[in-house]
Amino acid sequence: MSQNESVQMIQPPAEFVRKATISGMAAYQALCDEAASDYTGYWARLAREHVNWKQPFTQILDESKAPFFKWFADGKLNVSYNCLDRNIEAGLGDKVAIISETDDGQVRRVTYRELLAKVNQLANGMRARGIKKGDRVIIYMAMGIEGVVAMQACARIGAIHSVVFGGFSAQSVRDRINDAGAVAVITTDEQCRGGKKLPLKPAVDDGIALGGCESIKTVIVNKRTGGHCPMLAGRDLWWDDVIAGQSDVCEPEWVDAEHPLFLLYTSGSTGKPKGVQHSTGGYLLHAVLTMKWTFDLKPDDIFWCTADIGWVTGHTYVTYGPLACGGTQMVFEGVPVYPDAGRFWKMIQDHKITIFYTAPTAIRSLIKASDTNPATAPSNYDLSSLRLLGTVGEPINPAAWMWYYESVGGSRCPIVDTFWQTETGGHMITPLPGVTPMVPGSCTLPFPGIQATVVDETGTELDWGKGGLLVVTKPWPSMIRNIWNDADRFKRSYYPDDFNGKYYLAGDGSVRDVHSGYFTITGRIDDVLNVSGHRMGTMEIESALVSHPMVAEAAVVGRPDDLTGEAICAFVVLKGARPVGEAAKKMIKELQDHVAKEIGPIAKPKDIRFGENLPKTRSGKIMRRLLRSLAKGDTVAQDVSTLENPAILEQLRGN
Ligand code: PRX
Repeated sequence: MSQNESVQMIQPPAEFVRKATISGMAAYQALCDEAASDYTGYWARLAREHVNWKQPFTQILDESKAPFFKWFADGKLNVSYNCLDRNIEAGLGDKVAIISETDDGQVRRVTYRELLAKVNQLANGMRARGIKKGDRVIIYMAMGIEGVVAMQACARIGAIHSVVFGGFSAQSVRDRINDAGAVAVITTDEQCRGGKKLPLKPAVDDGIALGGCESIKTVIVNKRTGGHCPMLAGRDLWWDDVIAGQSDVCEPEWVDAEHPLFLLYTSGSTGKPKGVQHSTGGYLLHAVLTMKWTFDLKPDDIFWCTADIGWVTGHTYVTYGPLACGGTQMVFEGVPVYPDAGRFWKMIQDHKITIFYTAPTAIRSLIKASDTNPATAPSNYDLSSLRLLGTVGEPINPAAWMWYYESVGGSRCPIVDTFWQTETGGHMITPLPGVTPMVPGSCTLPFPGIQATVVDETGTELDWGKGGLLVVTKPWPSMIRNIWNDADRFKRSYYPDDFNGKYYLAGDGSVRDVHSGYFTITGRIDDVLNVSGHRMGTMEIESALVSHPMVAEAAVVGRPDDLTGEAICAFVVLKGARPVGEAAKKMIKELQDHVAKEIGPIAKPKDIRFGENLPKTRSGKIMRRLLRSLAKGDTVAQDVSTLENPAILEQLRGN
């Protein structure tokens, strides 16, 4: 889309606008104006109206230790109370909180009252094991009701959870236990995905066996399949034994608003994944507001966010947001293509889903699948229950957007393309469905109260139409509070001196449309890749590669991929001779498996190319820009005169 042409906007359907919680541009503008005229007063009003406080706050924003901002610091609350008890007190005890469907199609339902009982029993069982406020607990579980219960039980007793995605390796579990100094792990014997059983508890054992996990005193294991699952006496306990005889009443731990609710490890441009630390009060506020305003959640909605609880989307829009609003939601264990690529559409039909939130990568793979096997196309299903669609995690290409809008939403459901990050806690730039005219591929305008703009390298705000760095100019309640164990890295990553520590640096490039001011995200500006909406650091993958005994050196870059957004491409120098033919194929497989073992299958490089060396400048720096061109298959247009070893390019063009 040219920045000089005005693009065609798709208006939100009148029927939707009529009933929307925030209805019409004037209502949106009024909220933005309120925030502009009294920024802290605006957030304080919302925090009083949307969150239940045990002890009301009198302080709003504390900037005295910027960029370590505090919100509502003298208020006390409990997140699980806000998600469960307050709904039951409001008469929703018998309302279904969660409908879960397993990989093989078993459906379970729990009401708010049942969910609270489960959370309380586990919370009491954890307390009986000595787990207390401030302790860190790793959760490495299958997607299902118990995963949500485990997170809520931690919140109930003030323990800080750190969920590790079930697709990550034993080594990743070990690294997170070690960095967080966790006292306990809650896990599942095996998870089921796509018809396969994948062991989780054994991976916890392997991770702990790698060493550095002496802090772990308890491993709680939920039985999912009953598969082989060795237990270590004294340390390992079955979930059912932990809750046996425990009361279903549990006094919440009332914590300060700034008490860390969770750590979530995510990739950065350097080093190991960082433990993003979130607060209790500010985080909860944004989870609630975005459910009500971006998702327009109403009492009779059936909401389905397809994200795993291992990602931030599964925190805010599975475990916390929908429950804090008294909603009914779907939780799904499996994958979109099992038993076939009609699974999502069948589930929407069966459960009468009204709001559906997924990632562009899933949409693209389902488009492809329905082209090859029309029996899996959405048109074979009754999707008339849908009223709103959402996407998250990566830019959505306009063609995929249009397919989603027409084939899934029947051209009657607005799409909210929500831009946000692990660090932001909730939506930052997004359409509001009853307000914002949509442009496919644009996340449109900031959520009311969020102050986002685009600046150049010096921090100067750019005119609309000019590409630059996306920044947030004012602290907001649900923002990252710190990086666990690494306050310096927090400052360097998000509040760099280049901008005098004034702006939150998102790490994304962006451009605003000259006419509408709409934001489009142009991709990461650092060495972070986005593969199928999963965030991966190139350095992490490089470290995994060089930990293989045969690898002398490795450089990892991304290249565009039609299906996964970006694909991982690794350039590798082996210690011996450069392999060719069959030997190269064998080595590629071996290195892919090695990365899967070190990090997880999602980090496997799609391409691996071998060279006798890597292209370097005369001062020895790897020329990554050049590698990116090679990975894309572009002719290397740039000047290679500074290159120490130009002959190497031929080798790296492809095996
Ligand atoms: O590059 C942006 C991309 O995903 C990154 C954040 O990844 P993560 O912390 O794993 O959180 C993903 C789920 C919130 C961002 O820096 N991203 C996320 N949403 C969008 C997006 N890019 C474009 N459009 C989006 N809607």
